[in-house]
Amino acid sequence: MKKPAYPTLFKSKSIGGLRLKNRITMAPLYLGYAAEGGRVSPLLEAHYRMMAQSGAAMIVVENSSITPAGSGSSRTLRCDHDRYVGGLAKIAATIKEQRCRASLQINHAGRFARSVEPVSASDVPAFGRTPRALLKKEITTIQKQFARAAHRVQKAGFDLVELHGGTGYLLSQFVSPRTNLRNDAYGGSIDNRIRFPIETLKRVKDQVGDFPVGYRLLADEWLPGGLTVADAVVLASALAENGVAYLSVMGGTYESFFLPDVVKKSRRPGYMVALAQAIKKAVKVPVIAAGRISSPARAEAILRDNKADLIGLARMLWVDPHWPQKARRGDDRKILNCNTKCDACFQLVMKGQPAICPRWTKEKRAAYRELFH
Ligand SMILES: Cc1cc2nc3c(=O)[nH]c(=O)nc-3n(C[C@H](O)[C@H](O)[C@H](O)COP(=O)(O)O)c2cc1C
Repeated sequence: MKKPAYPTLFKSKSIGGLRLKNRITMAPLYLGYAAEGGRVSPLLEAHYRMMAQSGAAMIVVENSSITPAGSGSSRTLRCDHDRYVGGLAKIAATIKEQRCRASLQINHAGRFARSVEPVSASDVPAFGRTPRALLKKEITTIQKQFARAAHRVQKAGFDLVELHGGTGYLLSQFVSPRTNLRNDAYGGSIDNRIRFPIETLKRVKDQVGDFPVGYRLLADEWLPGGLTVADAVVLASALAENGVAYLSVMGGTYESFFLPDVVKKSRRPGYMVALAQAIKKAVKVPVIAAGRISSPARAEAILRDNKADLIGLARMLWVDPHWPQKARRGDDRKILNCNTKCDACFQLVMKGQPAICPRWTKEKRAAYRELFH
């Protein structure tokens, strides 16, 4: 086979004892393709088949709920009961058939959950709703739910599981000094604020043994008084000490994503790479950088300059599933790029509709609509 145009991007890498065939991974991307009620649908299966066929080394499947009370929407995948294992197993098999590693993200949305009574570290309102601060015994219950969900991911045949500590969801709500105002062992100092995610990781690892556990790490909330890189570095180091398999770094939460400055920032290629780099400096575990890594040349430079170990493509891979093949050939200019001024996918999923990219051909858009139900 011809040598790849970008040698570092196509070098293998080991994470959690597993070999990845190259450095390209898919970052989790919720697109509203699961069936109503959070079950695996034909569209979801077709979508992940295409993502795995792309040539990426690992697909991290979008967030799935560890409890109905922690779900973000009616089409969010679920892994809160054994009855979901069969559907999830189909997704794992579909991905692995393509010689691609399969990871699944598990989540509790906390104060962003659609539940009647949202819960969080403290009663800090979000979008006009005030969550109830969790009692100590409820914290333990949620940690057990994470552990049981991780076990289902293992039973479904995935290669890894990822804890969702990003996007301002529950794990990060405990770490943030803005949303955690507790004065017990889970609040106050940074060592106390990281207690919930660290205990959760330990419980998960106790349950799943040597099954690799990754973590989506919120490295900056981009909000006044919010979680900063300094907090994230402390958490990252503790996660690494406790055996996390990889850290997938991101910035922003639902409360900052729509601020004009953040919107501007997130239109820039590689807008979260500096966060990944700051985390990578602090830990030895593999770090994934994501955020508009639109060109293979940029991806290669990130790896070569040691800013991250792996590249996470979310919309970039979804918009053009041939990104990895074009990268191998050095055909950067042929890549169908996500329009930086467009947020159609986000708007559609917020309305409960399946995400469809305006850049796709009419035929491809129609095929997606056909499969959606
Ligand atoms: C519509 C949409 C859904 C997303 N869903 C998830 C998710 O389920 N879990 C997660 O950790 N990040 C999620 N993200 C964040 C992505 O993983 C990624 O960090 C971000 O989109 C930047 O990468 P990209 O420019 O390649 O899309 C989502 C982003 C978008 C736009």
